[in-house]
Amino acid sequence: MADLKLNKVIKRFGDVQTIHGVDLDIKHGEFVVFVGPSGCGKSTLLRMIAGLETISDGEVIIDGLTVNDVSPSDRGIAMVFQSYALYPHMTVKENMSFGLRLAKKPKEEIEQRVAEAARVLKLEHLLDRLPKQLSGGQRQRVAIGRTIVRNPKVFLFDEPLSNLDAELRVQMRVEISKLHEQLGNTMIYVTHDQVEAMTMADKIVVLRDGRVEQVGAPLELYHNPVNQFVAGFIGSPRMNFLNAKVLQMDGNKVSLELTGGEQFSMTLDRPVSVGDVLLMGIRPEHLEVDTSGDVNISLKVDVVEALGGTTFAYTQYAGEDQVVVVTDGSHIIPRGKTITASFNLEHVHLFDTNTATSLLQQQKAPVVAKILSAA
Ligand SMILES: Nc1ncnc2c1ncn2[C@@H]1O[C@H](COP(=O)(O)OP(=O)(O)O)[C@@H](O)[C@H]1O
Ligand SMILES: [Mg+2]
Repeated sequence: MADLKLNKVIKRFGDVQTIHGVDLDIKHGEFVVFVGPSGCGKSTLLRMIAGLETISDGEVIIDGLTVNDVSPSDRGIAMVFQSYALYPHMTVKENMSFGLRLAKKPKEEIEQRVAEAARVLKLEHLLDRLPKQLSGGQRQRVAIGRTIVRNPKVFLFDEPLSNLDAELRVQMRVEISKLHEQLGNTMIYVTHDQVEAMTMADKIVVLRDGRVEQVGAPLELYHNPVNQFVAGFIGSPRMNFLNAKVLQMDGNKVSLELTGGEQFSMTLDRPVSVGDVLLMGIRPEHLEVDTSGDVNISLKVDVVEALGGTTFAYTQYAGEDQVVVVTDGSHIIPRGKTITASFNLEHVHLFDTNTATSLLQQQKAPVVAKILSAA
């Protein structure tokens, strides 16, 4: 078992506070991803859990025990870094067994644990090689193997795939997910890449400037972002934002007008004032290049990227910021022309312009639309 709890965790480097009271509950066996832009505090938070950074205030609790003053090696945690940090003069096997040999574990047990880790990571045929005789992906697997042999309660990964090329990253992403399925351990994985977060996590923690913005399952964050930051960070290409002026307010029902004059009504979770300008969010994949939706808008097409399966169109709407449309690759979108696109109100997000928080009930959108049946 390895439940993990962060209780108002704060980090100060000298006078500068970089982590501002993070609360978090991680259950045994969960795959949790910390995601956020560079410098938001992901590594610092992970290193505090590992015991590599002191905790300025608050508590880190593992299985009910506060570990603030417990040394890293006694926390039952193992960490994989972006730089693999393998010993260059040791073979794969020696690298993987090093920690166990240092801990004076019985020889037989070391053999057995290394063999098991090598089997899980498909490294059996590479055990006698030196790191320089391995590819980047293989080195990363050895680094992971070195942590598996220690049989930790919690695995921590700090951007472990950043040094790999795009194809290998996708492959390793799948391998780490499979590994989690096989081992069933608690894993915390840090990345700035929202695609990694979406594809790997049971639970995503979105961080910004040392604060938690939102915690939730990937599709919860996609459908119900609590604020503009999460809405813009999760999803690729990012959500489009348009200005929407409040024409009328009747209870919590609001009539809105976009810059191009299009009008529609929505129900908010709190009242706003007539004349306010709200921020409307609509994802590129929720704009259809036809008039099938509830609201039609005219878009001037600047650039078209036809990728085959999908086509991206970068467009301008009524002099506002760029609006991106993603359509099926079978559509031909003419560059330089004006097209009509439409969207359904169920896909619209609305944010308060001042606080950037969502104005919609958070249970609004369906999290799972349909479950495909297995053949
Ligand atoms: N040892 C340190 N001394 C002072 N500031 C630090 C130190 N380590 C990290 N920071 C600062 O803390 C913030 C968070 O850094 P970090 O956790 O590395 O971010 P991330 O991993 O999300 O990119 C940054 O502003 C960084 O400059
Ligand atoms: Mg980092």
